[in-house]
Amino acid sequence: MAILKIARMGHPVLRRRAAPVADPRAPEVRLLVRDMLETMEDAGGTGLAAPQVHVPLRVVVFFVAGRRAELEDGILEDGPPEEGLPEEARHERRFRQDVPLTVLINPEIEVLSQDTALGPEACLSVPGLVGQVPRATRIRYRGLGLEGETIEREAAGFHARVVQHECDHLDGILYPQRMTDLSLLAFTSEAGRFVEEAFEDEPEDEKVQSHG
Ligand code: NI
Repeated sequence: MAILKIARMGHPVLRRRAAPVADPRAPEVRLLVRDMLETMEDAGGTGLAAPQVHVPLRVVVFFVAGRRAELEDGILEDGPPEEGLPEEARHERRFRQDVPLTVLINPEIEVLSQDTALGPEACLSVPGLVGQVPRATRIRYRGLGLEGETIEREAAGFHARVVQHECDHLDGILYPQRMTDLSLLAFTSEAGRFVEEAFEDEPEDEKVQSHG
């Protein structure tokens, strides 16, 4: 296993479109994913895309921690049983749970809602900065796992944001290119003092999380 060097904004590998993986079960793909996971963990990222470690292939890894505190603070223990909730609330509750560590090969995204939301994003390839980025609030994504199995999920909120961010890397897009207001790009050290004030209506988890 190895911790890989992370490409930073300006490196051509981050600007090119990555190639599909021909065989998800190939040993070299398994090796790449193992190193990506170790690199992501070492760097403290939420996600990582292969081009970020100088490999122009359509592979992403991510892990989305659920709003466990929020669940434990009321919705789960004190809230009404699921049967009593309206469809929208049940939907939302499902998406608040942890998304397991996921390896996605040749992923595709389908946007399910035209609604977008602004939320903070950071990137291991754009160190030291955080920006407010508009993203689709609900998506469906599918791709292949390491055994060649199909993975298909619907995602909302932060989960959907992470997947969109990582898949953008496969098309040579970094999050600042998705921003519609560059005045909301900030140094991480300053963002805590200023950006949060402007977005204090955002849900708490959207404020503090950052990813790869
Ligand atoms: Ni990134």
